[in-house]
Amino acid sequence: MKRGFKQANWTVLALTLVLTCLVSACEGNGTKSASGNSPTPAVTPAPEPSKQAESKGTTSPEASSEHKRIKVGFSMDTLLEERWLKDRDMFKAAVEAQGADVEVMAANGDDAKQIFQAETLISDGVDILVVVPHNAEAMAAIVKKAHSAGIKVLAYDRLIKNADVDLYVSFDNEKVGELQVQAIMKRVPQGKYVYIGGADTDNNAHLFKKGVFNVLQTFIDQGAISIVYDQWTKDWTPANAKINMEDAISANGNRIDAVIAANDATSGAIIQVLAAHGMAGKVPVAGMDADLAAAQRIVEGTQTMTVYKPIKVLATKAAELAVKLAKGEDVGADRKVNNGKIEVPSVLLAPIAVDKSNIDETIIADGFHSRDEVYMNVKK
Ligand code: BGC
Repeated sequence: MKRGFKQANWTVLALTLVLTCLVSACEGNGTKSASGNSPTPAVTPAPEPSKQAESKGTTSPEASSEHKRIKVGFSMDTLLEERWLKDRDMFKAAVEAQGADVEVMAANGDDAKQIFQAETLISDGVDILVVVPHNAEAMAAIVKKAHSAGIKVLAYDRLIKNADVDLYVSFDNEKVGELQVQAIMKRVPQGKYVYIGGADTDNNAHLFKKGVFNVLQTFIDQGAISIVYDQWTKDWTPANAKINMEDAISANGNRIDAVIAANDATSGAIIQVLAAHGMAGKVPVAGMDADLAAAQRIVEGTQTMTVYKPIKVLATKAAELAVKLAKGEDVGADRKVNNGKIEVPSVLLAPIAVDKSNIDETIIADGFHSRDEVYMNVKK
């Protein structure tokens, strides 16, 4: 029994040695590549996460959030008016100058279309939504939708009412109305005034009118000035402003001493009606926006003044703050404007009154319009 046991032990030992040799020999050979030069381990260790990403030609999550380009969605009411084309181009350039991208959509006055377009921008994954609302109330729904998608909303030039708007960047719009009436009152300190406002659906139209009446009310109360016509202009269209001015004349004949129009597109139509009645150049007219045609009418003498709102300043400020909002940075808004729901953090820029006396040093000096264009129809 003893001998048989020893023999069996030796056999097991010998077999174990052979097997160990064979295994180590296999390992030694197996580490060679086909070329026999570059050894590779039996099991490839997982590359570090950053290397893994690099090998796919992408960047790590940290790197990608650092370098990701911000995308700004710009939902505009309309591009059918001169000023908004400037806003679009200047805003786009200002966003791009900051290394961000912008996607622009314009609804040309159609509320349902603007809501649909803003929803599209949200689902396209913009990082911030900038809105020029056609309808101050209707766009509140979009603010809610954007917020549920984690996107902040900046109201550009026009406020969105009854919504948790994150930031409002505009001009001091009450001041616009005050500048208009101050300029007209220098020529007509007493008499019969016509007020033709903007679109009732645009919060700015209400602010412009408030500014006008802030100044006028005392003179109305004293009996020095009377308002013989006061009407909104649906959708700000010149066609509707023309109807308004015709109504004002048929109600008052030529007993009109001054007209305040909420913008230059409407003042152009109003002056056409005045011209048809032989009153152009005799009745002072105020407008706003410093449209080229209005600047020409000012030097020609049919429009008294306009209010210049430097769009480049607005577009640049809004673009800078939109990118900051998208990055979650502080925007340092120094004003608050109540929109019916909250006190909206706001930045309000200064408007400038322009008439014949300062047109050269304002809109022409700024390059808003060239001197040649402005004086095109008059001898210099
Ligand atoms: C803007 C004006 C513009 C008007 C009509 C207002 O909200 O502030 O500059 O003329 O809309 O588009």
